Amino acid sequence: MCGIVGYIGNRNSQEVLIEGLSKLEYRGYDSAGVAVFTDKGLEVKKAKGRLANLESQLQDSPLKGTIGIGHTRWATHGKPSDVNSHPHLDDTHKFSVVHNGIIENYATLKEELIGRGHVFVSQTDTEVISHLIAEEYKGNIVEAVQRAVRKMRGAYALGVLTEYEPDKLIAVRNASPLIIGVGEGENFIGSDIPALLNYTRDIYILNDGEMAVLTRDGVELLTLEGNFISRETFHVDWDLTTAEKAGFDHFMLKEIHEQPKAYRDTMSARISEDGKRVVLTPAEFGLSKEEIKDIHNIHIVACGTAYHAGLVGKSVIEKLARIPVETDVASEYRYRSPIITKHTLVIVVSQSGETADTLAALREAKKNGARVLAITNVVGSSVAREADFVITTWAGPEIAVASTKAYTTQLIGFYLFGLYLAETLETQTPEVIAETIAAMKALPEQVEAILTQSDDIKAIAEEIAKHEDLFFIGRGLDYAVSLEGSLKLKEISYIHSEAYASGELKHGTLALIEDNVPVIALATQEDLLEKTISNIQEVVARGGHIIGIGEDGNPDFSRHVNHLFTIPRTLSLLTPALAVVPLQLLAYYASIARGNDVDKPRNLAKSVTVE
Ligand code: AGP
Repeated sequence: MCGIVGYIGNRNSQEVLIEGLSKLEYRGYDSAGVAVFTDKGLEVKKAKGRLANLESQLQDSPLKGTIGIGHTRWATHGKPSDVNSHPHLDDTHKFSVVHNGIIENYATLKEELIGRGHVFVSQTDTEVISHLIAEEYKGNIVEAVQRAVRKMRGAYALGVLTEYEPDKLIAVRNASPLIIGVGEGENFIGSDIPALLNYTRDIYILNDGEMAVLTRDGVELLTLEGNFISRETFHVDWDLTTAEKAGFDHFMLKEIHEQPKAYRDTMSARISEDGKRVVLTPAEFGLSKEEIKDIHNIHIVACGTAYHAGLVGKSVIEKLARIPVETDVASEYRYRSPIITKHTLVIVVSQSGETADTLAALREAKKNGARVLAITNVVGSSVAREADFVITTWAGPEIAVASTKAYTTQLIGFYLFGLYLAETLETQTPEVIAETIAAMKALPEQVEAILTQSDDIKAIAEEIAKHEDLFFIGRGLDYAVSLEGSLKLKEISYIHSEAYASGELKHGTLALIEDNVPVIALATQEDLLEKTISNIQEVVARGGHIIGIGEDGNPDFSRHVNHLFTIPRTLSLLTPALAVVPLQLLAYYASIARGNDVDKPRNLAKSVTVE
């Protein structure tokens, strides 16, 4: 997803921009560029591919100046190419723009601009912005930007420079993330905090419909109508080293290993000292008992891995609190006219808190009178700010595109929330609640035990990496985890895989099973074990090669599989928080065996801020 950096100060801006862009690489991108005020005016350099390509151009012919904007692009309109990369200029080359988001009415705007004599060089929606601003410029860049954005529809975070006012950097935010970093004699813009952390820890978070005017000496926040905004800066107290690899070969492996800590952090302040209750603050879920009783149904809405966490969340809430739950993929939710009333609680789940589809679903829910609870990993993200209540998953920054610790802490979020509802509604006895909490507290150590067996999974992964197709099967919660295991494998190893509810295989897909096709069979749900074993037999009879994931000490299951990987025993409801870990490792090692870029898989972005 596109990343923006901007700088105004006294340092060599090229260095600040490249450093900031390197911290945004994790978002996924296909090209990069910078614009800097030099003694020749606004100069732009851009390059398709990795940031290193741009860096080598800049090494050969540096851009010397102390004000600049930079961008990593993730293509939406127009293929990845030098010319489609940002920054974009108008045709006088006096205005330069970087943009994250999509301008929905760009085609109409472009046609009108061409009609008035503007000449375009790229296929992007962004280029219309630089032309529009140029056209609206009557001697005041702030007013020109305000007039230009009034004509635009869609999502945009913008960084704007003009040669006419070379002591100003303009930032605008509408539905795409943008923050302002405040320094001494220097100020910054960025798509997120890690991009600025080497330079400042004092941050303004821009809201939708706001802009900032940065000079060397200060920052003014304004509404798009021109009203001044007074706001305190936010001080970042976490360290960049927490976002670095800490000795692991890849961020993904580091993040898999951080799960025990992430589980503990997410649980710790939310479990009473006696271990018998879940405690949520009013900001986390501030409804009274009467209001909770008035919830008739729950919708869980999310994308990708977060959606898979939602599938587990559905079972958890229905089982513990006996409230009917529907789970939807966010990009489908709005368009199926969901029945949302003031008795509906909508839970949106998002690691980044910036996913456009999830945000749109949140807004749809609120428009229809529902209350919204967000489960997210990013404090101050759009989702967190717009929801009524927020349960933050304290996973820490997740850099690898493939989500691991964010997913598992989302599961913890659902367990905590399900227990909180159950206790309030008295749908479970205090004994069941205390027993579940005790089992949850054991999860971090159990994950540590699984991680010590990584080599077993590595050996299986190296075999799997030789295949082009494979299947995951499971029943109940094992099916939900199978979907996540299959997505993880596809995402980073590029091996085609499908996940099926075990009982569904015989309704069509069994036709694809032949000699040596790998089938990963999850069987952690004790009450479903017999049925799962029957489905495994159907696969074995057709020559399928079974890799079983079961619980420790289950001899019944081990007799029916070619390889067995076991996880420590826990309550059936909690097995997803353990069973997914070997599947994460499987995907990781299969990706390594195939020589892929584990942390930055092709075609994917960490934060998907377009619909
Ligand atoms: C996970 O491995 C994926 N990269 C992806 O499915 C991700 O979970 C999805 O895009 C949702 O992102 P979010 O949690 O930031 O909303």
